[in-house]
Amino acid sequence: MGKGHKDKVAVITGAAKGIGQAFAKRLAEDGVHVAIADMADGRETVKLVESAGRNALAVICDVSSEDSVAAMGRRVQEKFGRVDIVVNCAGIYPQQDFSAMTFADWRRVLSINLDGTFLVTAAFVPGMRARKWGRVVNMASSTFGSVTTGFAHYVASKGGVIGFTRGLAGDVAADGITVNAIAPGLTRSPGTIVRKPRPGFANMDEEFVAIASLQAIKRPEVPDDLVGALSFLTSDDAAFMTGQTLNVDGGRVRS
Ligand SMILES: NC(=O)c1ccc[n+]([C@@H]2O[C@H](COP(=O)([O-])OP(=O)(O)OC[C@H]3O[C@@H](n4cnc5c(N)ncnc54)[C@H](O)[C@@H]3O)[C@@H](O)[C@H]2O)c1
Repeated sequence: MGKGHKDKVAVITGAAKGIGQAFAKRLAEDGVHVAIADMADGRETVKLVESAGRNALAVICDVSSEDSVAAMGRRVQEKFGRVDIVVNCAGIYPQQDFSAMTFADWRRVLSINLDGTFLVTAAFVPGMRARKWGRVVNMASSTFGSVTTGFAHYVASKGGVIGFTRGLAGDVAADGITVNAIAPGLTRSPGTIVRKPRPGFANMDEEFVAIASLQAIKRPEVPDDLVGALSFLTSDDAAFMTGQTLNVDGGRVRS
C-alpha cells in the first residue's frame, strides 16, 4: 500500500495495454481505484484492477478529442465521484523520416501526445483543487534527452509534455497538486514490439538490444520497470516534488 493511496481514484489514459496497463495494476495494488481511458477495449485491465481488490471502470476515449474527454470525465465522475490522480499515458510514436513527414502526421502526434495531456489534465484539475490534493503524472521519453532519428514530431511532443509539466506545476502547487513526468527509455510494450524499426535495424529485437547496450543497465526495459516511479510520484511521500521529470531508462540519459 502506497502512503496516502488507500481509496484514492486514478484516471489512467492509454491503460488498455502496455505501460498504462502496468501502471493500473500497480496503483490498484497500492490501494487506488482506477478508471481506464483508452481508444481500445480496457476489459483486460479492469480484470487486473479488480483482482487487486479495487474498483475499475473502462471508458472508450480519444484523448485528442475535447468532446470525448468531456464524456469520459462525466462517466468517471458518475462512477467514482472524484478523481485524485491523473496519469497521462496514452501516446503514439510512429517512426517516420522527416522527409516524408506531412503536417497531418505532425498534428496527429502532437494532438494525441500533447493536446491529449492538456485536455485530460484540464478535465480533472478543478476537482483536485477543490479537495486540495492531486497528482498529475505525464509521460515524457528518453528520446528528448538523447540523439534519435525518425521521430521529430514525437520528440517535439514529449518536449512539450515536459514543458507543460514544469509550467503547470507552479500554477497548481498552492492547491496541494503536484505535476511530474516519467521519461522511460525504449521499453518492450505492445506498441514498440510492432513498430517499424529505425533505419539500420533489421527488426525491433535488434533495436532493443542496441539501445540496451547504451544504458548502464544492459537489458531491455519492460513496463514493470516504470511502476515504482509512478507509485512514488502519486504517493504522499512525493508531496514536495513537483515540475520534475524522472528518467527511468536503465541509466541512459543523465540529467
Ligand atoms: N514503449 C516505449 O519505448 C516508450 C518510451 C518512452 C515513452 N513512452 C510513452 O509511454 C506511453 C505508453 O507507451 P506504450 O509503449 O505502453 O504504448 P502502447 O502502444 O503499447 O499503448 C498505448 C495505449 O494508448 C492508447 N491510445 C493511443 N492513442 C490514444 C488516444 N488518442 N486516446 C486514448 N488512448 C490512446 C492505445 O490504444 C494503447 O492502449 C506513451 O505516452 C509513450 O510515448 C513509451
